[in-house]
Order: sequence, then C-alpha cells, then structure tokens
Amino acid sequence: MQADLIVGIQWGDEGKGKIVDRLACEYDMVCRSQGGHNAGHTIWVDGVKYALHLIPSGVLNPEAINVVGNGVVLSPESIIKEMVQFEGLEGRLYISDKAHLNLSYHALIDQAKERCKGDKAIGTTGKGIGPAYADKISRTGFRVGELLNPEKLCGAIIEYFEQNRAVFDVYEIPTPKKTELLKELEGYKEKLAPFITDTTQLVWKALDENKRILLEGAQGTMLDIDHGTYPYVTSSSTVSAGACTGLGINPKDIGKVTGIVKAYCTRVGNGPFPSEDIGKDGKRLGEQGHEFGTTTGRARRCGWFDAIATKYASRLNGCDELALMKLDVLDGFDEVKVCIAYELNGEEIDYLPSNLEDVKPVYKSFKGWDKSVGARTFDELPKEAQEYVLAIQEITKTKVGIISTSPERDDTIIL
Ligand code: GDP
Ligand code: IMO
Ligand code: MG
Repeated sequence: MQADLIVGIQWGDEGKGKIVDRLACEYDMVCRSQGGHNAGHTIWVDGVKYALHLIPSGVLNPEAINVVGNGVVLSPESIIKEMVQFEGLEGRLYISDKAHLNLSYHALIDQAKERCKGDKAIGTTGKGIGPAYADKISRTGFRVGELLNPEKLCGAIIEYFEQNRAVFDVYEIPTPKKTELLKELEGYKEKLAPFITDTTQLVWKALDENKRILLEGAQGTMLDIDHGTYPYVTSSSTVSAGACTGLGINPKDIGKVTGIVKAYCTRVGNGPFPSEDIGKDGKRLGEQGHEFGTTTGRARRCGWFDAIATKYASRLNGCDELALMKLDVLDGFDEVKVCIAYELNGEEIDYLPSNLEDVKPVYKSFKGWDKSVGARTFDELPKEAQEYVLAIQEITKTKVGIISTSPERDDTIIL
C-alpha cells in the first residue's frame, strides 16, 4: 500500500500537526522525513495542549508507530526533553541511525551567523538547522548511529573541532572538554539507544505488509531550500519529493498528497511575503489566530490567502487535495481577501516568479461571515464561508478535502 503525505503549502505553521493527529487513528505508522526542532506542531485534544518538535504528531494515537527518518537533523537534547511528556514510547518511536546529529555547536554557529548578518538576517529559529545540514552536505556531519559508540564519537567531534579551529575561532566557540563531552554523549546513548534503528528497513517492511503510513511534513513549501523564497528559507527539502530522500522510499511509494493551508497566510522570520497585511487586518488576523510561533514564541506576520503561491505549491507537491485550516479565524471580518494575481513591473501575472521581492498582490474580495468556529459539517458553515471555500477550490484548481474550524481534533470537516 502507498503512503499518504501531509505537506505544508505556505510558510509553515499551517496546522500540519492538528491534521496529522486527527488522521493518525487511520494509520499504523507516522513518519517525519526532514527538518528538525525548528518545527513546532501544536495539537489540542480535549483542552490539553501538546507542542511537538521532533516526535511525529502520531504520538498521541497509542496505536501508531512513529518514525524519525534519515532526512531529519536530530538534536538529542531536544528530543529527550520532548520524550519526557509521553510514557511507553519503546516500540512506538524509532529514530533513523542515518539521521544527522544537530549538536549544541550547530545552534551557536546559527545564532552567530544571524548576528553577523544584521538587518539581512534570515530570522532563523536559532536551532542550528542550517549548520547541521551544511555539515551533512559537506560530509563533515555525525550521524545518530554514532551515538552508540560515545567514546569514538567524542574523539571524532574533538578532532573535527581541531581541524576547523579557525572557523570556530571566528564564532568564539571553544573546543568541548573531552570528559564533559563524553558524559553528554553517554547520556544521549543511555536515553536514545532503544529507539535507534535502520528505519529504511522498518518503513519498507511496513510498506510490504500493506501497513497504512502517513508522512508528516515540517515547515512549508515556500521555505523549501530549492523552491522557496531563497535565501529566506530553511535548509531542507520541504516539498513532497523530500519525503522520498528523507525516508528512503521511492516516488511510487507515495499515494495521496494533502497540502495544508491556512484560510489566510502567515510567515515567521524575514523574507518576501506578497499578501502580508501590515495594517489593522493583519493585526486582527494575528490576534484572532493567536499567531505566535510554537518554537520561538515570535509573533507571526499575517496576511491574506495567496492563491498564486498555493497553485504553485499544489503543482510542486502533486496535491490531490487541500486541507483548509483556521477558517474560523476569519469569523467576524466584513470582507476577506484572496490574492489572485501578482503585479510585476506593471504587468499582471498568474504564476510565481523565481524572485518574489518585487511583486505586489492583486486581490479579489469576498463577503465575510459571522461564525464558522466549531462547525463539523459543510452545511453548518455560513453561506459566505461556504462560498469562500468553493472559490479557493476554483482559483487554486485543487479540491478542498478537509476544513478545520478550531484547534481541537474533532472540529474538522472531512468532505
Ligand atoms: P504546524 O507547524 O503546521 O503544525 O502548525 P502550528 O502548530 O505551528 O500552528 C498552527 C496553530 O493553529 C496551532 O496553535 C494550532 O493549535 C492552531 N490551529 C490548527 N487548526 C486550527 C483551526 O482550524 N482553527 C484555529 N483557530 N486554530 C487552529
Ligand atoms: P513548522 O514545521 C514556520 C522558518 C524560520 C526562518 C526560516 C529558517 O512548525 O511549520 P531555520 O531555523 O529553519 O533555519 O529558519 O524558516 N521556519 C519556520 N517557520 N514554521 C516552521 O516549522 C519553521 N521552521 C523554520 O522562522 O524564517
Ligand atoms: Mg509550527
């Protein structure tokens, strides 16, 4: 059986965690394939909030096995902290021995580089994601499987520091002390060894046994290293293709692709955002949507639904359908807007150019509605909200298959 895939269509924080959690009861396995603890996936179940960063969002379903694939950059410290929230994870959580380690010096380099960039900073989460992926691509990274031999890994890390002393000097990062580093690595081994395995074989076996698998994307398409708003992006392949390399599956192993979009749009960090509203509507969207980052607590920039970016992302990811999230956040607006085209050098265009810096949004307005919050069927939605959903479907040329009307698991309309 093919694996189904959940992918962020905008700049992240679309509500992927909620949908993965909502759907997890239908799956035997939930897998992360890229990103690291820059991700923040919030899930609300019966009034209790869970914030996940590295553990897949299937963890709240006791039946689902959760896999952290080889494409993830793993902070042992972060995942250990996260694991404390859950009991009985052995046999329910597996971490790829091929995933790369994101260690404390990666975060120090990330933060130092951002400081050096001044007003050109990317606005990273400061979690070391870029430097960890840079080490992986430069073939100077260390992998999770190496944690199983702390003595050897400790020696290799210290050797790496010595070889790169000049670089670490620039960032004023001292070489770790051997005894301290060894103790830290032994602690990681003690906590993580039962979870480390060859997840490629695990996922292949599940596919061969016709188990139902859900792939959980992190970040969003517009933050993709190749196809996003470079250089204001993250350092992984956030699109559906990234799930193949990040788990060791082939394109034919992927079945249904669901793109997750908010009914409006947000972005954290710097970089172009054509439909951003820096006026009162953007402020109101931020307030009504509680738009503060799960990972860093930063206020998210807000604006209107961007149909051009969504069409682009839908094609890039091969979306069979969209899940339209946070429709309720638009409740109470007299008018809601959708960006249906861009203006570039005085001309109207209906595609996403390689550089988004100079585009201006062209909007279409829709009549607002009073109350969609908590609706669980399409018929319960106000007529204007129904019309908005159908218009998004029409403009983006992608079917809306799911609508979400509150953070709670069950306030979800499956069409
Ligand atoms: P992710 O990174 O894509 O998993 O999304 P985040 O968890 O970072 O951000 C989405 C936020 O919106 C979380 O706080 C969710 O609890 C919340 N959320 C998800 N769906 C809905 C919805 O339909 N309505 C409202 N009001 N909030 C939602
Ligand atoms: P989830 O999975 C929103 C953004 C950062 C910054 C850029 C690069 O919760 O949707 P990085 O630390 O990755 O090098 O930062 O990417 N970013 C996210 N924005 N949601 C995320 O994850 C993000 N992960 C990274 O704000 O602009
Ligand atoms: Mg998030």
